[in-house]
Formats: sequence, C-alpha cells, structure tokens
Amino acid sequence: MATLEIKNLHVEVEGKKILKGVNLTISEGETVALLGPNGHGKSTLLNAIMGHPRYTVTDGEILFDGKDIKSLSVDERARLGLFLGMQSPAEVPGVSNSDFLRAAINAKSEKPISTYKFYKMLDTATKDLKMPFDLATRSLNEGFSGGEKKRNEMLQLILLEPKIAMLDEIDSGLDVDAIQSVSETINREKEKGRGFLIISHYARLFDLVSPTRAVVIINGRIALDGGPELIKRIDQTGYEFIKTEYGIEIQKEEADMNDVSIGTCAVREAIK
Ligand SMILES: Nc1ncnc2c1ncn2[C@@H]1O[C@H](COP(=O)(O)OP(=O)(O)OP(=O)(O)O)[C@@H](O)[C@H]1O
Ligand SMILES: [Mg+2]
Repeated sequence: MATLEIKNLHVEVEGKKILKGVNLTISEGETVALLGPNGHGKSTLLNAIMGHPRYTVTDGEILFDGKDIKSLSVDERARLGLFLGMQSPAEVPGVSNSDFLRAAINAKSEKPISTYKFYKMLDTATKDLKMPFDLATRSLNEGFSGGEKKRNEMLQLILLEPKIAMLDEIDSGLDVDAIQSVSETINREKEKGRGFLIISHYARLFDLVSPTRAVVIINGRIALDGGPELIKRIDQTGYEFIKTEYGIEIQKEEADMNDVSIGTCAVREAIK
C-alpha cells in the first residue's frame, strides 16, 4: 500500500517562507480533507509535493513508500503514482487535450495504449463526468470555462490511475450537478483504493465524499489533525475556535501599499 509521508517540510516561494514544518502522512485508501484560511499554504503544500519548480523545499522530507522524492521531476513523481488536480489549471494552446492525455498514459506504461482502448477509456470517463466529448479533443484547457477546466482535471485523474491523488479546490466554479458528478467520480476512484488529499473551502463536497480525516493548515503548519467532525465545525463557526481553544494566532497577510494604483489608493482611504 502506497504511503506519502511529509516530514518537517519547509517551503519558500519567491524567497518568502510559506511552509514552516509540515508533518502529514496519507496512505492509499484514505481520504484526507485539507482546510485552512486563504493564503496559509494549502496549495503550496500540494505544489511542493508534486515538485513544482517555483516552490523551493528548504528543509524536510517528502517520502513516497519510504523513498525521498524531493530530487525527482514532476513526471517522475507522477510515474510513481502521485497526481495533482490544480486550483488554476493552465491553458496550453496548440496541444490537443487527447494527445496530452495519451502521452501522459504512455509515459507511465511499458507499451503504448492502443487507439481503440484509449478512445474507449476517454468515452467512458467523459460520460461519467458528464463532459461534452469535444472538450477532450480541443486544445488543453484553452477557452474552457472554470467548471470545464475542473472536470478536465478529473478526466486526467481517471485516465492516469494514480495511487494518491491531490485535488486543489476541485469544486470551485462547479454547478450543483457538476459537484455531484465529480464527487461520484471521487467515490468510484476511492473504491479502487486510491488515496485522496482534498482541499476545499466548502463542506458540501466533503459531505459527498466522506473524508476519513481532516487536517487544518494555519500559518504554514498543520494546526489540527483530527476526525471529519472538524469540517462541520469550521463550516459552521469559522477558524476562530483555533485561536481561543488552541492559542494559535491566525496571521493575516499585510496589505502591500508600495504598488500605487487607483485601487490601492481607494483601499488606503477605506482603511483609514
Ligand atoms: N508564485 C508566488 N509568488 C509569490 N507569492 C506566492 C506565490 N505562490 C504563493 N504565494 C504566496 O504564498 C502564500 C500561500 O499561498 P497558497 O496558494 O499556498 O495559499 P492557500 O492556502 O492555497 O490559499 P487559498 O485558500 O486562497 O487558495 C500566499 O501568501 C501567496 O500569496
Ligand atoms: Mg490555494
């Protein structure tokens, strides 16, 4: 059974310290909800695990089945069985979605997938996600609506069959029917034994996918690691109880007043 272990992880972005000693373990078959206020390091954690070059690991370990994967490239990590569904998927004009998916499948298997098998898989997966088939053949994410991009991330997950999948706000921008089909897909993939680390700000998605654990990132550290009841509590009362019950002060981002625009002048007036 695959296990992802994060030990004392410190990460910087553009010279700014974001993660300050994260410890977290996720095993295949587990579904972990990752919560936390805006800007506290959730996406940074997922990007650092996946090996995004902009996120510099300055200390700590990222172990996959006991092996440190920090020096591996993104595609090598994907080949081991890690997957990241991004918060803001990039548009790649000129690269067809289906060519991209097929290349990604081929990169992790010994022999190339047959055209027949690939299109059969694509057809089933797009139907499961209630996605128009033409999205699979257009340029990767180019001109896709917000919800279409998110469904396309799920399409990649289905086809790439990772051991541990990380989903960053997969529910943002989805209409109610799409949230339903995305959560049904997550539940189907869970039954195949995949582990999930899921970021969302909303209890609705978590109600549909029933996480086994919930962890909360505050100020670049895991402040709480507990049962799924944490999700309901945060949804109903916010993060304030973490300060009153655990004595953890929630740092707010200071407004940077150096870049002057009409917008910042208006903000300056408003906060006087
Ligand atoms: N490329 C970057 N350049 C500069 N700062 C960055 C960059 N990426 C992230 N940051 C900063 O790192 C901090 C953590 O960002 P991160 O995206 O991890 O937050 P988050 O917890 O995912 O928030 P949200 O809930 O809003 O998605 C923020 O202050 C953000 O501005
Ligand atoms: Mg984020």
